[in-house]
Amino acid sequence: MQSFNIALIPGDGVGMETVPEAVRVLDRVASLFNQVRFRYQMFDWSCQRYLDTGSMMPADGLARLGDFDAIIMGAVGYPTVPDHISLWGLLLPIRRTFDQYVNLRPVKLLPGVRSPLRDYQTGDIDFMVVRENTEGEYSNMGGRLRAGTSEEVVVQNAVFTRYGTERVMRYAFELARHSRQHLTSATKSNGINYSMPFWDDVFHEIGQEYPGIRQDSNHIDALTAYFITRPDSFDVVVASNLFGDILTDLGAAIQGSVGIAPSANINPEKKYPSMFEPIHGSAPDIAGRGIANPIGQIWAAKMMLDHLGLAPLGNRVLQAVEATLTEGIKTPDLGGTATTQMVTDSIIRGLDVLPYD
Ligand code: IPM
Ligand code: MN
Repeated sequence: MQSFNIALIPGDGVGMETVPEAVRVLDRVASLFNQVRFRYQMFDWSCQRYLDTGSMMPADGLARLGDFDAIIMGAVGYPTVPDHISLWGLLLPIRRTFDQYVNLRPVKLLPGVRSPLRDYQTGDIDFMVVRENTEGEYSNMGGRLRAGTSEEVVVQNAVFTRYGTERVMRYAFELARHSRQHLTSATKSNGINYSMPFWDDVFHEIGQEYPGIRQDSNHIDALTAYFITRPDSFDVVVASNLFGDILTDLGAAIQGSVGIAPSANINPEKKYPSMFEPIHGSAPDIAGRGIANPIGQIWAAKMMLDHLGLAPLGNRVLQAVEATLTEGIKTPDLGGTATTQMVTDSIIRGLDVLPYD
């Protein structure tokens, strides 16, 4: 029996509703396979904590997370707390401290879900975005001088290191090598004239090691259009931190609902814990009503299973999600009337009854 210690950080809003659902699914799939057990520790780190105590997490919060095998995060954000405070007080320090330099985001049109792109059916859209997750445009270097005055000066630096760029490129090439041998790089080297030509150079350099892989480089503006006009043409897409962020919200939209899309913040070397969260935010407009879609969180848990070396369990979870959607058991974001818990109940039933493959 293998045992894994999982840190749970539900965070804010719908995160508090979706994280328990992912736990229910994990426990059920673990009991079915009977070879693994999950132990959880829950942390109340959140905007509510910030309002109560002045900080999103305790001073030793990051140190406490370091010993876990993985972290499950819900969502972070409150209307009354500025986003740059809540995010730089919790989510972003976790990504950086634990060197989760790959943010892996599948874009896949699942059965039973209608894409807003009317010409695409299940199976047509199926690709991965590899987002650089520790540097680039999110490097936290800069400042505001003479703040609030008419002479204010603001500098925000984007930092691209050779080390950081090479490793994320290599990860993306490896992923493409195990997939359909096609990697697309998101660039903007026509307008951003230092970092993006450098990004392109590294793409081409690492690409030399992968002669069998088709290599395309698209400017980010054109690439966003291609996500709409030919989403079936992608296999793996590699992008800098900000470009990958924007592309994956678009990716979530074309897979039918932002409520479905998962995200894995991975430290591939497994030196530190990785973190698994849905792409969506805390959704204060629907929080507390029991109608949040749990699938983004549950699919993220599937990615955790894959990362922990439990891919057969992960695949079964996704199959059960697909069966539930095919049956039409959906939350309102997908046009259904089911509650959060009804969707999870159905997924758990699916775990029990689906044939093993
Ligand atoms: C995401 C989110 C975060 C990001 C925000 C909340 C800082 O949009 O995970 O995509 O930009 O990384
Ligand atoms: Mn985002």
